[in-house]
Amino acid sequence: MAKISVIGAGNVGATTVQRLAELELGEIVMTDIVEGLPQGKALDLMQAGAIVGYDTAIRGSNDYEDIADSDLVIITAGIARKPGMSREDLISTNTKIINEVSKNIAKYAPSSIVMNVTNPLDIITYTALKATGFEPEKVFGMSGVLDAGRFASFIAEELRCSKKDVEAMVIGGHGDLMVPLPQYTTVSGIPLTELLPEGEITRLVDRTVNGGAEIVGLLKQGSAFYAPSAAVARMAEAVLKDSKRILPASAYLEGEYEQEGIYFGVPVKLGASGVEEILELELSEKQYEILRKSAETIRKVISGLGV
Ligand code: NAI
Ligand code: 2OP
Repeated sequence: MAKISVIGAGNVGATTVQRLAELELGEIVMTDIVEGLPQGKALDLMQAGAIVGYDTAIRGSNDYEDIADSDLVIITAGIARKPGMSREDLISTNTKIINEVSKNIAKYAPSSIVMNVTNPLDIITYTALKATGFEPEKVFGMSGVLDAGRFASFIAEELRCSKKDVEAMVIGGHGDLMVPLPQYTTVSGIPLTELLPEGEITRLVDRTVNGGAEIVGLLKQGSAFYAPSAAVARMAEAVLKDSKRILPASAYLEGEYEQEGIYFGVPVKLGASGVEEILELELSEKQYEILRKSAETIRKVISGLGV
């Protein structure tokens, strides 16, 4: 049976554990620095199993030793945005947290695949790579599945059609410079560009780019977690079932999309080994321009991290 560890028992962490438990993908350990928090939530989720109908074993812990021999470790520890904050405002606190978390992953779960969720996503995923010392294919970040989910949801609302029929693609950094790709977005195989005029698509692209901030503005404390945990569960399932799904993920680039040595959202093949392949798409010059700008910003930040 697979073992999954979720580090951080806050909004994203606990909701992720709920979704994974319902999918019965393996036994789950949820850890946090706050004493009692993961234990209480684990107990609550265990009891939910008797009502919903799952037998997943869920354990809460404040001790890294309990993540020993995990197949998949999901990092959600850290602070989240408040209104007026950008994802970059989280850098210094979350880098310190993820350094410590990653060293413990390397110590107790050296064979695991690591999925990072903590923001700023592409930078913190890079920190996790360096601090674990793992091979790049074993460490990736979740963002594109969430951003594409938001784009798909807005498209379905606009077309008044089922969300089940929309397949969207969003790449680039998880921030204001993400790049939704209308030319690779379809509704039951029909290109989006055949279904909506350019101006309408631009409006939905802009709403997608600001999708996280829209929710932060409404919640006034903390950020989104229902759609993020759904995205994490989809990626976890691809790894644990070795299903080779093609999904956007923040992956370590070694020449792809003109970039080297940074993490960036790109379409990948996700399986038991982690990022098994990076798919390179043709993009418009304008889309490439945004990617270059975004990569430059990420590179500047990581050069100052000293990791
Ligand atoms: P939250 O504040 O609800 O939970 C964070 C948890 O981390 C807290 O329970 C806290 O006690 C714990 N924590 C802090 N330091 C720790 C440590 N050293 N070890 C273990 N646990 C520790 O925040 P939420 O909403 O769950 O978000 C978590 C992170 O995920 C944030 O950085 C947020 O920006 C990011 N996020 C990223 C998304 C993405 O698309 N990549 C989507 C949604 C959130
Ligand atoms: C989001 O996009 C906070 O990055 C998170 O909702």
